[in-house]
Amino acid sequence: MADTAKISIGGKTIDLPILKGTTGPDVVDIRKFYAESDAFTYDPGFTSTASCESKITYIDGDAGVLLHRGYPIGELAEKSTFLDTCYLLLHGELPNAKQYADFEHTITYHTMLHEQFDRFFQGFRRDAHPMAIMTGAVGALSAFYHDSTDINDPQQRMISAHRLIAKMPTIAARAFKYFTGQPFVHPRNDLSYAENFLRMCFSVPAEDWKPNPVLTRAMDRIFILHADHEQNASTSTVRLAGSSGANPFACIAAGIACLWGPAHGGANEEALNMLKEIGTVDRIPEYIQGVKDRRYRLMGFGHRVYKNYDPRATVMQKTCHEVLAEVGDADDPLLKVAMELERIALSDEYFIERKLYPNVDFYSGITLRALGFPAEMFTVLFAVARTVGWISQWKEMIEDPAYKIGRPRQLYTGALQRAYVPVDKR
Ligand code: ACO
Repeated sequence: MADTAKISIGGKTIDLPILKGTTGPDVVDIRKFYAESDAFTYDPGFTSTASCESKITYIDGDAGVLLHRGYPIGELAEKSTFLDTCYLLLHGELPNAKQYADFEHTITYHTMLHEQFDRFFQGFRRDAHPMAIMTGAVGALSAFYHDSTDINDPQQRMISAHRLIAKMPTIAARAFKYFTGQPFVHPRNDLSYAENFLRMCFSVPAEDWKPNPVLTRAMDRIFILHADHEQNASTSTVRLAGSSGANPFACIAAGIACLWGPAHGGANEEALNMLKEIGTVDRIPEYIQGVKDRRYRLMGFGHRVYKNYDPRATVMQKTCHEVLAEVGDADDPLLKVAMELERIALSDEYFIERKLYPNVDFYSGITLRALGFPAEMFTVLFAVARTVGWISQWKEMIEDPAYKIGRPRQLYTGALQRAYVPVDKR
């Protein structure tokens, strides 16, 4: 491609520089376009717009590739641990043994919450959705940890990142305990990240939680699979919130709010509900017909970026089988429905034509249910894992000298200026 793109507008030709990444599509730099043409570009949903430069995650949706700092997600899920991946996302390189031990120690020793923070949960109704609690509680972190809210101080930025990665499982487990009416369980420093989280969720005063290596590994892997995903809706929300200079805890709360939607992080809950609604394999054709009649969508299918099998879905499917076998649910009827639904959809022209493949959420609901989580917790678990991606992307943005407040423009189609009409004359 040439080094500049040309746009003719209003009898004028404007040269726009073409930027090249290390891989992926070239990017037409339109930053000067408005100044030179007096026109905006229009791209609701950002289907053709790169909103930032980033070195963290690369996705080739057509090839089904997902790389974190250059490492394929399948390899990280197989060989890495969640904290190893967290370090990689935050720092750009995999840690050596000492760096790993130090990082693990730092995260482990930041898992506790301020004692007063626990009272915050009592303000929520008992039947509050755990995501509602998460949105509020994570935002409230900025009221407790003033010494890590100065975004201009690199050390404070790193401390806030550590605090968020460390405290998110504790907050999530408390949201779960509050939702189920059980007492809070404090973190323990002798357990791994995933072990600690599962224990805080499933231990009760009458009976401690016993670690199970298969289930712990599955939890850790699920965290790795959801750790980052380039400029998705919630990450873009975090960046946009952060672009105004808001503190990192407030920005992550904004990301959690965005993640909650059924088209994003809420999809795994919806996918499980859908499998339950279908119930048995014989009802699949009728359900598929409803999708084709556009009465509803096949949840856990399709992706804005992947027009091929989501590489995370491959690992998730394997993990799903391992977990179900471990908990003695290998014959789970919902797994049978999922597998048959996937088989039929992948051979059906409607789905082939639209390049609709299972995404990471298709199998995650069944897996999380087998781990013992109710559907209301699924998006919460996603938020725990994605926190490192959000904070790494936020940090990258703050450290980018070219960053400015995010302020999109619009195509205005409303009324022109008109005179105000008093109420008795309307
Ligand atoms: N089931 C049936 N048809 C679908 C689905 C689906 N899940 N997804 C897209 N389509 C169809 C649309 O109807 C449309 O068909 P048309 O061209 O005949 O009108 C075509 O595929 C393109 O759909 P868009 O909505 O333009 O695709 P977009 O990229 O905007 O949507 C999205 C991506 C939101 C993820 C969509 O596929 C969807 O709603 N999937 C279900 C929800 C889901 O699983 N979300 C999880 C995403 S992964 C994540 O957040 C971790």
